[in-house]
Amino acid sequence: MRRWLLGGLGLLLLLCGGGVAAVTWLVTRSAVDTVGKVAFDRPLQVPPLAASTVDADGRRVFDLTAKPGASDLGHGPETRTWGYNGAYLGPTLRAERGERVAVNVHNRLNEPTTVHWHGMHLPARVDGGPHHPIPPGGDYQAAWTVDQPAATLWYHPHPSDLTERQVYRGLAGLFILDEAGGGGEPAGLPREYGVDDIPVVVQDKGFDGGQLSMSDRFLSDVGVLGDEILVNGTPGPFLDVRTELVRLRLLNASTARVYDFVMSDDRPMTMIASDGGLLEKPYAARHLRLSVGERAEVVVAMRPGERVELRSRATGLGRFQGGRDAFDVLQLRAAGALRPGTMPGELVSVPRLDPAQAAQHRTFTFQGREINDDRMDMDRVDAVVVKDTVEVWNVANGHDTPHSFHIHDVQFQVLSVDRGAPPPELGGWKDTLFLEPQRRYSVIARFADYADPTTAYMFHCHVLRHEDEGMMGQFVVVEQGDKPRLGHG
Ligand code: C2O
Ligand code: CU
Ligand code: CU
Repeated sequence: MRRWLLGGLGLLLLLCGGGVAAVTWLVTRSAVDTVGKVAFDRPLQVPPLAASTVDADGRRVFDLTAKPGASDLGHGPETRTWGYNGAYLGPTLRAERGERVAVNVHNRLNEPTTVHWHGMHLPARVDGGPHHPIPPGGDYQAAWTVDQPAATLWYHPHPSDLTERQVYRGLAGLFILDEAGGGGEPAGLPREYGVDDIPVVVQDKGFDGGQLSMSDRFLSDVGVLGDEILVNGTPGPFLDVRTELVRLRLLNASTARVYDFVMSDDRPMTMIASDGGLLEKPYAARHLRLSVGERAEVVVAMRPGERVELRSRATGLGRFQGGRDAFDVLQLRAAGALRPGTMPGELVSVPRLDPAQAAQHRTFTFQGREINDDRMDMDRVDAVVVKDTVEVWNVANGHDTPHSFHIHDVQFQVLSVDRGAPPPELGGWKDTLFLEPQRRYSVIARFADYADPTTAYMFHCHVLRHEDEGMMGQFVVVEQGDKPRLGHG
């Protein structure tokens, strides 16, 4: 009896001890904080502007080759990565409203891929979704006419099941759209690429023995969460600033992580644009949250000689969703003399879409890995939309896992968040929206110009693990009275 008692007590102590150790491990290992610990000893790499030619038909033609390579991401020069035309990420494509563009994509990987033009308004058959895989060694051309406001869009792979790892290894790039003739932007906005207009592609990475690691963090319900930050593929980056105003085109090109950007001394970032283009007026943001796939353009005001850092602070999400993590992201180093600049007070007018005009209201509930209790089925059409109509989509996240809601082909406007008016950062054109746990959103879009009953567009969660696991649906845009008939290939 006494021996049994002692044994039981010993077991209990052992369990408690293990419990304490496990809890200690969770507390110390499951939150990352790199603030004040980043050396900022490498100049920020700026993706080159992609070369293009104008063909006999007057189209601007680009070439993108997806291929493997080796990169120095801060863990030696031999980290195996993938890139477009280079070893990591891709060049920045740039085109004007009204231009006809064609992109020749070459797949030199050993697995199928696609290139999707995230945020672009274009016909479904050139959208680059999972229905159009490019086999290893294969080539593909997408061609369309740019017709939407100036914006910071991006491109990335979108094959069935493989999107998370292909993006994680480095396949992503920016696609900047300008107004026709390069005009249309209010005077005063910084616009010299790589000088005072800077792409800031933010990604988190984990490493294992000099190679990218895709092992999941303990209990993560969003996929890979890295403990280091790359900006444009640069670890510990600094940027030399020579102007009073510097424009940062922020893209969250991570696979799972939500950022909440702040400046290290709490100065405001003047937000000028969201996913689909300029806001009506600049908005002084003390912090700016970007979920996976979202973009924001901000202008930061600098004083001569100073240094200030862009950081990402804890987001308020759960520990196992990376919500307690904090990062140093990018150091801005101002020169002793700065070229002066003045921000415009107004930007553009954003015509409001009117919910009273909606031809259709739909509801999409995000739960687990399903939207309205369904996973992706390439043969199922989830929504048939009539061309040139306006629709209201009510999107709800009823659970504690964060999601990121993206619709192909259109830019939408946010009508409400939990029935209240959207905050200023959600006041402009959007194609991707952070679905916070336990919130409901209402968005409105016009599905203009392109009908194709045989080819679907996607809508989905942009947390790439969720997308790969089937958190995606399809819509087809048809002419009034027509019906979808999905073809294959
Ligand atoms: Cu950025 Cu359907 O994707
Ligand atoms: Cu997209
Ligand atoms: Cu999700």
